[in-house]
Amino acid sequence: MKDEPFTPQAYTSSIESGSFTWSSPSNIALVKYWGKKEQQIPQNPSVSFTLDHCKTTTTLSFSKKEDQDAFSFDVFLDGDKKDDFKPKIETFFKRIEAYLPFLRNYHFKIGTSNTFPHSSGIASSASGMSALAMCLMSVEKLLMESDTALSTDKSIMSDDFFIQKASFLARLGSGSACRSLEGDLVVWGKHNEIDGSSDLFGIKYPFEVHKNFKNYQDTILLVDKGEKQVSSTVGHNLMHGHPFAQERFKQAHKNLSSLIRVFKEGDLDTFIEIVESEALTLHAMMMASMPYFILMKPNTLEIINKIWAFRQATNSKVCFTLDAGANVHVLYPENELDKVCEFIKNELVAYCQNGHYICDVIGFGAKLINN
Ligand code: PMV
Repeated sequence: MKDEPFTPQAYTSSIESGSFTWSSPSNIALVKYWGKKEQQIPQNPSVSFTLDHCKTTTTLSFSKKEDQDAFSFDVFLDGDKKDDFKPKIETFFKRIEAYLPFLRNYHFKIGTSNTFPHSSGIASSASGMSALAMCLMSVEKLLMESDTALSTDKSIMSDDFFIQKASFLARLGSGSACRSLEGDLVVWGKHNEIDGSSDLFGIKYPFEVHKNFKNYQDTILLVDKGEKQVSSTVGHNLMHGHPFAQERFKQAHKNLSSLIRVFKEGDLDTFIEIVESEALTLHAMMMASMPYFILMKPNTLEIINKIWAFRQATNSKVCFTLDAGANVHVLYPENELDKVCEFIKNELVAYCQNGHYICDVIGFGAKLINN
């Protein structure tokens, strides 16, 4: 596997200071990534819907410093200094340093805010790391352009390369973050029927998608807003030596193959089957690992049963998926918006912590807010 294209030719850090702001959304996997190799390389390919409203906005300000000894940065969440976020960013900087040689030349101020509450149980790592990766790419592009202005033999970075490298960097921050930069469907991980798919970065799903999947809705029911009992890093690692791991990885390839036809034909029944099976398999893997754990709560199961009963009674195409936690993502086509919202309000909100839920819809990835 080659990652050399992401190691830049030498450039000078001739710019004194500047600032970029990007927003980037969260994403929800349909075929799940669970299990990784070194360097955040996934054990199987995954595909996700990019979300729209659940996002992080990050401003990265940079100013040149004298020495190049250490990384220098401060992190702020909603204006408050967050030193407890620093170790994660330090690790991220170490991992990406070989690909962004300017990192030690500047002091960075990273100001970040999320549209969803920090304690909502919604992971901010996908949106946060992807927003930061886009800001860093903007700095690299600026440095390269300033060099190009001085010499004519260097080419300006293309938009495709910019996104690809940002996804590559975001992956090194948090695996699933590499699927947040574009939309509305993103594939990450090599799959033999999807040309251009890669373990190194996410790509926009390259095939036809039926109108049934346009503006797909995702209502996130906040069942448990507490900190996760098991971090996803620990969970991924438990797939090493897991008795069902190899079968699970094969199943993910197969489910992604099946989704290609489903997306093309708009086959919502098979979509539901695959998506719900993927969610339950993810949790089954957790329950079957050693040590074992359960991230679903009683209310997660209550909601799942209500969704199944509603589907049977009304022929609705609503379904659920889960990430590595107790919250439930309720997925449904746009033409069922009123009907499903009514159902959620009447029958599901009672199972949410403090009645909290977030209405989202499929979106199109990161946006440059300011430079
Ligand atoms: O990106 P990570 O390391 O937090 O892992 C995410 C794993 C799942 O959300 C459970 C599945 C996925 O594909 O997003």
